Amino acid sequence: MKKIILDTDPGIDDAMAIFTAMAHPQIELLGLTTTFGNVSVEQATTNALSLVEMAGLDIPVAKGVGTPWVKELNPFPDFVHGVDGFGNVNLPAPKGQPIAQSAAQYIVEQVNACPGEITLVAVGPLGNLAAALQIDPSIAEKVKEVVLMGGVIAADGNVSPVAEANILSDPHAADKVMAAAWSVVIVGLDVTHQVVLNNALFAKIAKENTKVGQFMADAAQFYIDFYSSIRDIDGCYAHDVSAVAYVVDSSMFGTIEGEVCVATDGVAIGQTIMSRFGIPYPLTFWQGRPKQKACMQVDSTKLVALFEDAMTSDYWN
Ligand code: RIB
Ligand code: CA
Repeated sequence: MKKIILDTDPGIDDAMAIFTAMAHPQIELLGLTTTFGNVSVEQATTNALSLVEMAGLDIPVAKGVGTPWVKELNPFPDFVHGVDGFGNVNLPAPKGQPIAQSAAQYIVEQVNACPGEITLVAVGPLGNLAAALQIDPSIAEKVKEVVLMGGVIAADGNVSPVAEANILSDPHAADKVMAAAWSVVIVGLDVTHQVVLNNALFAKIAKENTKVGQFMADAAQFYIDFYSSIRDIDGCYAHDVSAVAYVVDSSMFGTIEGEVCVATDGVAIGQTIMSRFGIPYPLTFWQGRPKQKACMQVDSTKLVALFEDAMTSDYWN
């Protein structure tokens, strides 16, 4: 079993990733930490508690950062995830409460308790991971790996020609994460734009998963409607679940590596820039940084099958 803490801004595709992590036999989901991003951190925390409750699980939810490290908070993309973050399905309020610790404190405590064992899976802006590094820089040596949905190296961005939403939401935090002495795997738009989840799949999930299937299909419909309106696809992209899939089976991805800097201002703000050509440049921003990995190819058929199997497994019935 691979122990993970999932840092999230739920979020419709976050829900897909969280449910997949809950159900997959190779994953031990220790807890959820929440951040602003698709919605406010308050709404993200409520949504995380709702997902845990819906699944009948008893795992901690720790509330995290509500604003970026430096830049202004952007308006929340309610046209992508709905005002409630779940496509305006408007779930009843969850009964549970977040734990007293902040997300960053929870991450530090768990990583120090299980050095070398925990993978941080981040599928939202990266303020909680940056805050955890600030509390205890030594966690960089104790985290097994950071696998993050975010960024784009060579493909089309989704919030600018060169930037992806999670990184743009907090570029200063993202740059700290890329510069730290831990192993980061960027599961970015280079691969998630190759993985489409269609209506027929969600209809199957609604039919076979009697616990959370109908909710997932209803929320996904809002996401599909958005993507069908701006991209020529019959479905929605499997952004966040691709990060969980990497933890389960990294062999379905092809990767490159290099030092990574994140642009924190100007026209390219939010761009993840990897020095990947082995050329010693006169500009030294990348010098002294660790090489990080970025996923550039993916077996999308295998990834969709992993999601489908997790969402229709006996775990839910
Ligand atoms: O760019 C896609 C990412 O931004 C996903 O994590 C989605 O949930 C949003 O947070
Ligand atoms: Ca997300």
